[in-house]
Amino acid sequence: MKMIELIKTRRSIRSYLPDRIDMDILTEIVDCGRLAPSATNRQPMAFHIVQKEELLEPVFRTLSWAGYIAPEGNPKPGKEPMAYIVVLVRKEFADTITKHDAGAAIESMILAAWSYGIGSCWLGSVKREELTEILQIPAEYRIDSVISLGYPAETPVMEESEETTRYYKDENGVLHVPKRPLKNILYVD
Ligand SMILES: Cc1cc2nc3c(=O)[nH]c(=O)nc-3n(C[C@H](O)[C@H](O)[C@H](O)COP(=O)(O)O)c2cc1C
Repeated sequence: MKMIELIKTRRSIRSYLPDRIDMDILTEIVDCGRLAPSATNRQPMAFHIVQKEELLEPVFRTLSWAGYIAPEGNPKPGKEPMAYIVVLVRKEFADTITKHDAGAAIESMILAAWSYGIGSCWLGSVKREELTEILQIPAEYRIDSVISLGYPAETPVMEESEETTRYYKDENGVLHVPKRPLKNILYVD
């Protein structure tokens, strides 16, 4: 897939096939996060891959999905993520600019995953204390976000909308994701 197509076809995926993701691929995805832009090139991040079967369920329980349509947007039993990347930031760098570093790394990883046909969802709604405990995250880090991963079992539809930014599921269970039209947000000269 060409880069532009990759960027435009990426959607948050919240329903996954029960196929394992190769560890080499997971590592390559993290490597793409590692190489993202970083303010003053401080590189304040670290990444924790979760793929062991016995950890998937405990991690899943710390996450909240698709707030606008909860609980309808939760991954259904058997359709849960097959791996996670927990994005960590060193506490000593816990300033606003670090959020940009995290965002850049996360988007790079999400797009890298999609280039392998792997769907993902960026999760900011995380029970951080519980997850820190479950994964025994070292004290020098705080959890920024979690990326869920898996081969997609759904195909959300993007649609232009001037009226709403609220995503919804139609009668067939297809997720529709409104995006503001370009003409409304683009200013030139
Ligand atoms: C910072 C951030 C936090 C997010 N947190 C969550 C979350 O906790 N749970 C969830 O299901 N989706 C979460 N999302 C995904 C958004 O809901 C999703 O990107 C948005 O609905 C647009 O859909 P799209 O990604 O398919 O374009 C988050 C996205 C971002 C950028």
